[in-house]
Parts: sequence; structure tokens; C-alpha cells
Amino acid sequence: MTASSMEELVSLCKRRGFIFQSNDIYGGIKGLYDYGPMGVELKNNLKQAWWKSMVYERDDIEGLDASILSAPVVLQQSGHEDTFTDPLVDCKNCKSRWRADQLINNTCPECKSKNLTDPRPFNLMFKTAIGPVDDGSSFAYLRPETCQQIFTNFKNITDSTSRVVPFGIAQIGKAFRNEITPRNFIFRVREFEQMELEFFVKPGSDDAWHKYWVEKRIAWWETQGVSIKNLYPTEVEKAELSHYSKATVDIMYEFPHGKEELEGIANRTDFDLGSHTKNQKEYNITSEVKKNEHSTTKLGVQNLDEKTTYIPYVIEPSAGVERGLLAILNEAYTIENLENGNIRTVLKFKPHLSPIKAAVIPLKKNNEQIVAKAKAIKNELQNLGLGRVILENSGNIGKNYRRHDEIGTPICITVDFETLDDDSVTVRDRDSMNQERVSSKNLNQFYQKYFIK
Ligand code: GAP
Repeated sequence: MTASSMEELVSLCKRRGFIFQSNDIYGGIKGLYDYGPMGVELKNNLKQAWWKSMVYERDDIEGLDASILSAPVVLQQSGHEDTFTDPLVDCKNCKSRWRADQLINNTCPECKSKNLTDPRPFNLMFKTAIGPVDDGSSFAYLRPETCQQIFTNFKNITDSTSRVVPFGIAQIGKAFRNEITPRNFIFRVREFEQMELEFFVKPGSDDAWHKYWVEKRIAWWETQGVSIKNLYPTEVEKAELSHYSKATVDIMYEFPHGKEELEGIANRTDFDLGSHTKNQKEYNITSEVKKNEHSTTKLGVQNLDEKTTYIPYVIEPSAGVERGLLAILNEAYTIENLENGNIRTVLKFKPHLSPIKAAVIPLKKNNEQIVAKAKAIKNELQNLGLGRVILENSGNIGKNYRRHDEIGTPICITVDFETLDDDSVTVRDRDSMNQERVSSKNLNQFYQKYFIK
């Protein structure tokens, strides 16, 4: 099941501590969000799942965590200073600003006036001063995508790891875009995170690798609980391709506000390393790159068979963390009509993504023995290292079940008077709501089974 509207998700996310409007108590800033106690866990779990599948489960990908502030020359060479723009129009009537390509019938969405300025390019990169004097002479950009530092670190990584093509470099981190019209909750924001892989291949093998990564990425989203029937891999039309791309497949997802891009998988050819390399003329660079008179480093690699050097091609799966969260929240969101006439809201996350892995609930919050046993169970499960386990000591079982359904906790474990006699606990399963008695000595194994793929 999915949510019937974005409002349902926004409301649950605020009520249960997933996502808040940033700077809320001062009126908020558009396009910025904060992640609360549940949101930070969900986000970390999603990023960890991506990292695990990219870096830990493979032997051909290395990780990187590079700086966010970027030297302007990097983004000049990459083409961002010239081309990373959206067409901006002003409404002369109400003074609001819009993206020209998102207007319907050239009409201001605010006041419905057609009295608009001509579109002009608006660069989406944020600038900030570097050093103590803000006189414009020394500035940096907040990176608009995480991948440029992967390209500028290419030689550092090949030298320090002895990697040879084909291999990849993965990075998760913040990116910033001064979107003209941030909207649809966390779908289009000004500060977000990307999970990007740059996979370096030999020219000629790029089409096959591109196909490989499209299939891999769709399969990965499925393992995060995103139904294949809501995913639409879509070939981007030639006229719509980014300046660096020979071919791009966008994985579109049916979000509550409509079908839009969740992840893009681009064949970036030799554009990136070709743009950032020293001595461009030494290589047979196939893409159109800006002349580089600043780079200190050659980024070509050896073709050992032919005893030549070449610039590797790049296949790039690039996913937004926030869009991933929105898709996962939407897929997990379920409303059930229960036999007793009640309605329950439950987030049916895959257990590895659940913010809380298990809630341990002492039936009587004032009973020392019961509370001590619950604490011991919490500590033991916590030490298994599968994520956050929580001791719920509010004493109201019904309320606890409702809260943990709504934040997607796979199991609730209740410690009661019987536990003191027979050392067993009641375990309630989130999805089936079935309750069963489990002996404490089997509990670790019982719990761990939820997280084994
Ligand atoms: N390095 C390639 C690149 O950045 P992109 O299509 O501009 O390509 C990749 O961005 C992904 O980043 C998108 O598929 C989307 O998931 C996410 N993304 C881009 N802009 C975003 C924004 N303003 N808010 C949230 N996510 C965004």
C-alpha cells in the first residue's frame, strides 16, 4: 500500500519525529528540512544499505568522503559555471519567481497573471567566502553534486589502492542547489544528500556496463522495499541529456505528487576525467571538453595490452537520499481496517531500514524486577549491533503498540509477571500483529532472524 496524498506522509513525519521544517520556530526556510529522532535513523539505515551494497559486498569499489566546499576552477572545468542553470522568470504583478519550464500556460501560479519577464538563466550554485575578508576575491562553491571530488581524487585513489579499470569510487554526502521553486516536501530541496558511484570503464565496454548498472540499481531499490511496479526506468531523450552524458536512464518513481526521477544512471563518457586532466592533447578524448590550463595531474591510465594510455569512461548511478526516503516512506505507509473496527496506521519498512529495531516494554513500570529484566534484554539486543533498540517505560502497552506501528518497529517485546516465573517474553510482530511467547534464551536468535536477508 502507499499513501493517498503527500499530506498524509508530511503529517505522520512530523507527528512521529521523522522530518521537520527547518528553522520552524522562526517561520521556516523553504527547501530545507531537519531529520528528527526517527528520521536520522531511517536516513542512516538507507545510506548504510547503499554503502554495504556498493563497497562492502563488492571488491571493485572504494569509498571516499571529500570536502563540500569546492574550488571554483573545479566547477569551471566541469561546465557547472556555464551550464548549471534553470530558466528564471519574475511575475511583474506579484513579484514572485518561478522556473519557466514548470509554468503551465505561462501563468504565474501565485496570482494567475501572464505579465511575466522573459526567462533568463539562473545559476543554481551557492557561493561562500573563504578566509576572513569577504571582498569577492576568494570564494568557494558549495558542491552542487558529490561526484566532482571523486574525479579530482581519481589519481590519489588509484595510486593508494592500485585499482585498475574497471573499478568504482563511491561517495555519500551533502549537495546544495539554490532551487528556484523547492517543492513537494523533501522531493526538491536546496540542501540534500546524494549517494553517487562513479564506475570507471574502458571505452567500448561502456554500453554494457551502463545496462548492468541500471539493472543493479533497480534490483537494489526493490530490496529496500520499493515495489517494481512503481519504478519506471526511462531513457532520457537526446535533446534532454546533460552536457556530459551520452545516454542516461532515469529511474522514475510514482511519488504521491506524480511520477518523477528517483535516481539517474548516466554514461558520462570520458567527459569528466578528460575535463580535469593535465595535458589533454596527449589523449584521444572523445567528448567536448573545456581546455584545461590549471590541472597539475594527468588522469589517463595505461592500456597494458596496447601499451597506450587513455582516459576511462564513467558510468554514474546517482541517487538522492531524500527522494529515496520519500519513496520508502510512501511504500511502507499502510492503513488497515482491523476486525474490531479500529483503523491502524503502520509503516511496513524492511526491518533493516526501521528506525527502531525492537521495543522492549516492561508491563509494570514500577516493578523493579520487571524493569531490570527489560533493561537487560534491551542491552543484550542492542549489543548485537543491528541498530537502535529502545526501552519503552511508559507502561501503556496499547499506546506503545500504536506508536511502534507508526514508526515501523518490526517487533515489540513485553516483559511481564510470567517472565519472572518462566523467563519467557511476549513478542508481537508488527505486520501480522501475532503475539507469541519466546524463551529469553532464544530471543537473540529470534530477533536476528528479522534482519537476515
Ligand atoms: N552527478 C549527477 C547528478 O547530480 P542529478 O540528476 O542532477 O545528477 C542526481 O542528481 C540525483 O540527486 C537525482 O536523481 C535526485 O535523486 C537527487 N536530486 C537532485 N536534485 C535534487 C534536489 N533539489 N532535491 C532533492 N534531491 C535532488
